[in-house]
Amino acid sequence: MILAGALVLGVISCVNVRRTVVVPPYVAGASFTGSEGCAACHEEINRDFKTASHARLIAAGEHAQEVGCESCHGAGSRHAESGGAYGTILNPGRSPQVCFECHQDMRGHFNLPHTHPVLAGQVTCNDCHDPHQGPAQRGGGTRLSRANDLCLKCHAAQQGPYVFEHEAMREGCTSCHEPHGTVNDKLLAQRNANLCLKCHVQIRGANIQIGSISHNVLMQRGTCWTAGCHEAVHGSHVSSSLRF
Ligand code: HEC
Ligand code: HEC
Ligand code: HEC
Ligand code: HEC
Ligand code: HEC
Ligand code: HEC
Ligand code: HEC
Repeated sequence: MILAGALVLGVISCVNVRRTVVVPPYVAGASFTGSEGCAACHEEINRDFKTASHARLIAAGEHAQEVGCESCHGAGSRHAESGGAYGTILNPGRSPQVCFECHQDMRGHFNLPHTHPVLAGQVTCNDCHDPHQGPAQRGGGTRLSRANDLCLKCHAAQQGPYVFEHEAMREGCTSCHEPHGTVNDKLLAQRNANLCLKCHVQIRGANIQIGSISHNVLMQRGTCWTAGCHEAVHGSHVSSSLRF
């Protein structure tokens, strides 16, 4: 039987940050081989792993060794000795629980009322994060448009090009959406006009001025995107004010 039970103990040093030390997931009857013990059979993953965000995590303390592959997959001696027999090692691709052991706040995010359906098994952490290679943030570390591509792969309806683009899209989908979970419908970062006002506002005395128009009265009608004013928040083919 395999148990995923990482204990948060002391201090991990991650590049130059000191954080929590983590004992990797427990696999009954197995001991740690270190990542080199995986290289013989998973050469490619092992080679590319040097570039991965998670490869920079070096645990200190009693169980330390090198917390590489086994920090997510659990101790690998039984798996290695059996030549890779099924059921001898954890595959966090099937369940986010291993990730939650270290990223405890994420467990909370995914229990909020509106989330990407990760707990329901429809979407996985690794759909958006690469555990083995490069930045853990898929599309991260490079152009923002690549980060948007990640989202557009599954949400083609929001893809342009639009005749009238909303420049906010260049700042990325996450300037308005929380990718993990929120209390707000449609995974919105904020439920009301504040979502838009963080980029659009000029206050003149008591007057909320956006562009050339006073919005004091308009804003009592509803949110910017539901009051019939700017429904095409992602971009429009017909309206420069993103009306529809
Ligand atoms: C002696 C060869 C060998 C060694 C050493 C080895 N593996 Fe494997 N591993 C395999 C084979 C064979 C499979 C099954 C086929 C596949 O998915 O490549 C496998 C499958 C896996 C899987 C998928 C399991 C699943 O249930 O989906 C993971 C994860 C894995 N190995 C991780 C590791 C890690 C981590 C190490 C080092 C601790 C390691 N392996 C060492 C041969 C090995
Ligand atoms: C941050 C956590 C994490 C670390 C560290 C990690 N893995 Fe994985 N591994 C995963 C996840 C998540 C999956 C499932 C990926 C998928 O299904 O696309 C996976 C899947 C696998 C698989 C089976 C599927 C495949 O892609 O072939 C193997 C084999 C594997 N990992 C080996 C390794 C080896 C070897 C290392 C170290 C060099 C390593 N992993 C380090 C999280 C991790
Ligand atoms: C052994 C503990 C551990 C496990 C297991 C683990 N992580 Fe991490 N992860 C960390 C630490 C430590 C950091 C870097 C510190 C930080 O920024 O929080 C990190 C960073 C990240 C980042 C941000 C990387 C960046 O470039 O800022 C992402 C995304 C991430 N992890 C996703 C995952 C996913 C998905 C899984 C499960 C497949 C996972 N982690 C499993 C410890 C872990
Ligand atoms: C739909 C895509 C998506 C899914 C699914 C997803 N993430 Fe993320 N995650 C992101 C994006 C995008 C960011 C960058 C956040 C930002 O730029 O505001 C991020 C950032 C992170 C970070 C680093 C920043 C932070 O907020 O601490 C961690 C850690 C992380 N994710 C863990 C996870 C884990 C664990 C899972 C699965 C339980 C998961 N993510 C599922 C898209 C996703
Ligand atoms: C692997 C596919 C996948 C990826 C990648 C993905 N999503 Fe999703 N997304 C889904 C699924 C599945 C749902 C839930 C089903 C639905 O409501 O469409 C969802 C729901 C949403 C919703 C709520 C939709 C609604 O009508 O309530 C928003 C907003 C969203 N995703 C934005 C994003 C953003 C932003 C990104 C990039 C950070 C992203 N998604 C990446 C699959 C994905
Ligand atoms: C300027 C803020 C903003 C940006 C940037 C943004 N969205 Fe949205 N998105 C919204 C608002 C507001 C809604 C709710 C619309 C509604 O309820 O009618 C929404 C709704 C959605 C929905 C639910 C379906 C729908 O249209 O109602 C999805 C899926 C979605 N957005 C995906 C994305 C993706 C993918 C990106 C990046 C390519 C993105 N969004 C960028 C504000 C934004
Ligand atoms: C990340 C910053 C950002 C966010 C958040 C944002 N916008 Fe924008 N928006 C811009 C930029 C930049 C422009 C182009 C310059 C301008 O017109 O101010 C723009 C342009 C517009 C325009 C076109 C103005 C015109 O007539 O030319 C409208 C309408 C608009 N945004 C509505 C919204 C709405 C509604 C929301 C909230 C759902 C929102 N914006 C959220 C950055 C943002």
